[in-house]
Amino acid sequence: MAALLFSLVALFLCHHPSTVAARCGVADQGSTLQVLHVNSPCSPFRPKALPWENSVLQMQADDKSRLQYLSSLVAGRSFVPIASGRTITQNPTYIVRANIGTPPQQLLVALDTSNDAAWIPCTGCVGCSSSTFDPAKSSTFKPLRCGSPQCSQQCWDHRPINVRYLTQVAVAHHVNTTYGSSSISAGLVQDNISLATDSIGGYTFGCVQKITGSSFPAQGLLGLGRGPLSLMSQSTSLYQSTFSYCLPGYKSTNFAGSLRLGPHSQPVRIKTTQLLRNPRRSSLYYINLVAIRVGGRIVDIPASAFAFDPNTGAGTIFDSGTVFTILVKPAYVAVRDEVRRRMRDAAVSSLGGFDTCYNVAISVPTITFMFTGMNVTLPQDNFVIRSSAGSTSCLAMAAAAEGSVNSGLNVIASFQQQNHRILIDGPKSKLGVAREACT
Ligand SMILES: *[C@@H]1O[C@H](CO)[C@@H](O)[C@H](O)[C@H]1NC(C)=O
Ligand SMILES: *[C@@H]1O[C@H](CO)[C@@H](O)[C@H](O)[C@H]1NC(C)=O
Ligand SMILES: *[C@@H]1O[C@H](CO)[C@@H](O)[C@H](O)[C@H]1NC(C)=O
Repeated sequence: MAALLFSLVALFLCHHPSTVAARCGVADQGSTLQVLHVNSPCSPFRPKALPWENSVLQMQADDKSRLQYLSSLVAGRSFVPIASGRTITQNPTYIVRANIGTPPQQLLVALDTSNDAAWIPCTGCVGCSSSTFDPAKSSTFKPLRCGSPQCSQQCWDHRPINVRYLTQVAVAHHVNTTYGSSSISAGLVQDNISLATDSIGGYTFGCVQKITGSSFPAQGLLGLGRGPLSLMSQSTSLYQSTFSYCLPGYKSTNFAGSLRLGPHSQPVRIKTTQLLRNPRRSSLYYINLVAIRVGGRIVDIPASAFAFDPNTGAGTIFDSGTVFTILVKPAYVAVRDEVRRRMRDAAVSSLGGFDTCYNVAISVPTITFMFTGMNVTLPQDNFVIRSSAGSTSCLAMAAAAEGSVNSGLNVIASFQQQNHRILIDGPKSKLGVAREACT
């Protein structure tokens, strides 16, 4: 996936190994967690660097599988067709530290704002990586039987069974689900979880027993979506359904990305827009995108391209797990055509899913996403992706495939969110955006 990001980071950092090592050990404080790019020098998940072109193609393949996953989050549907053909490795891009159990066992979990639950690989898991959570070593671990209230979301079997203290994951209520192109089989369990210096008792999560496919993040994931099993729903008294994050840029040498949980130390002066709830995809953070400005010009996009539709799930979401923003075709074409118009005679080329690449600098200074009540003006670093050598620049967005279930969904993705603080204010039902150099 973001192997490009890695190759760029590596390029930047290879001269400062000691600085990097020192910063990698930064302790999480209070309710604030350090957020790392999965391919950053501090991450154990760094893949081998790929040539630039290959890594871009890989990232786009990942996004396709991500989009398929997002579209599968439709009420009542638990399966998404598994991508066939070549292997697609779709991994979320950012990770944080979580401590699970008593005494705490640390895992580097992926931050996923579109997933409801936490899914943690447990000891004995078939197909998981070597770092797992070992329930047998935790004195506060507890499996959940079907019939407990927490199961009702995922339950196949609603028979009322008393929740009893049981010691084997094998007897926990089991769920099968998918993540990207992976299939997951997990037991629903409870244990204490600590994030930075906060602790949440009896946290319900999926103890993963079996994985097929390569999409699942190596040490599991932490769902910050809007469903009943998400971190926010299970910690309302502590965090009041409020969090914010700043995703560090891929050129980061500073590792100041952060996830702040709870209403304290959140930005007060921040532009916000109303969050919308789409019953069709209830875990996702929908907002109302109304127009797009390329440079100084609002491009001509039919209102239907942005329409929020509870019947189909169409609309616009913020997602931390997709890398490049995807717009429905008429919106993308209008943006792209304006970029091309401003590039006049420069020869345009394509690279994988990017169809607007140049061997000269792209002369569009900003792109503005206009939401209800909030304009977000992005500098070039948030919409132009450049090769390490600087010889190729592409408009870092793509069109949603037409005719698919995804064709109505606009996704504001992580490349476009880098170096911005994104605030989710549950009680006010607002999403805020502010520039912040967390690189
Ligand atoms: C989950 O999948 C496994 C096979 O991997 C199967 O044995 C089991 O019955 C499935 N459970 C449910 C609840 O569908
Ligand atoms: C951790 O779990 C134990 C046992 O369930 C509980 O007594 C304790 O208060 C929990 N810690 C926190 C911080 O919730
Ligand atoms: C967003 O920009 C448009 C025009 O560029 C302007 O008319 C509108 O008032 C702005 N909205 C906000 C909330 O600032």
